[in-house]
Amino acid sequence: MKTNSPIKVLAICASPRKGNSYFLLEKALEAVEQLNLVPTEVNRFHFGQKLFAPCDACMKHKVMQGQCRIKDSFQPLRDLWVGADAVLYAFPVYHMGIPGQLKCFIDRLGNSLGYYFQSGEPRTFHIPRLNKAMGFITQGAHLYGGQDLALNYMINHALLMRCIPVPGDLPASYIGAGGWTGGQAGKSSLEKLFEEKDRDASNAVEAAQQVARRTVEMALIVKEGLRAARHVFDEDLNYRYVLKNLD
Ligand SMILES: Cc1cc2nc3c(=O)[nH]c(=O)nc-3n(C[C@H](O)[C@H](O)[C@H](O)COP(=O)(O)O)c2cc1C
Repeated sequence: MKTNSPIKVLAICASPRKGNSYFLLEKALEAVEQLNLVPTEVNRFHFGQKLFAPCDACMKHKVMQGQCRIKDSFQPLRDLWVGADAVLYAFPVYHMGIPGQLKCFIDRLGNSLGYYFQSGEPRTFHIPRLNKAMGFITQGAHLYGGQDLALNYMINHALLMRCIPVPGDLPASYIGAGGWTGGQAGKSSLEKLFEEKDRDASNAVEAAQQVARRTVEMALIVKEGLRAARHVFDEDLNYRYVLKNLD
């Protein structure tokens, strides 16, 4: 099936360096470029040294139409995130979980967006059924280093944001893409292993590419499904926002 409306893909690399997560994400995006299914519009966002302050629980977003009071790199990424049909997250494992920078972003996103999409006042917490397709790519230095835990954490993020977590396909990918660098901490460790045809690094790349492909496919299914069923959901507050933004 061909459609002219592009799927807007946001590709987030949540590492402070252009390293192994960045490499996997770029490999994943190669697969997206090769998809002949639908036009895609890819926005890349690299955390790098950008600042994401932690949520300080000020709750000002409740009286600021869902805006976060703290001004930093949160706002530009929030805008890209809100506008995307599909979100790919690539991130390293830190302390058997996700990096703090990424946690700061999603804490503030989850709270502030609860008051963001309504037009009337007073507002009450409501995140519409955003139904963005989300794929997760992670890697760490170690085997059993927490890749599953980090992936699970982000799957919960997708669920909380009323979005759809998408895995790759077995056997390369169970619940997302996970890799490891054989205990090496260099920023090109995974790429080198991949060039040496290391089996686990090849698996991580294959899984990342599957996750990316399926995430775009799922975004297409959701978008076309919403178009087809628009009349069913027209009056439903949960769908008003996504329907309004269907092109
Ligand atoms: C603060 C910190 C914590 C880390 N914790 C873990 C960990 O719990 N498990 C693991 O396998 N690797 C861990 N690592 C290693 C990184 O996940 C690994 O080096 C990864 O390749 C870094 O990704 P990047 O190159 O995209 O930054 C940690 C690294 C840092 C800097």
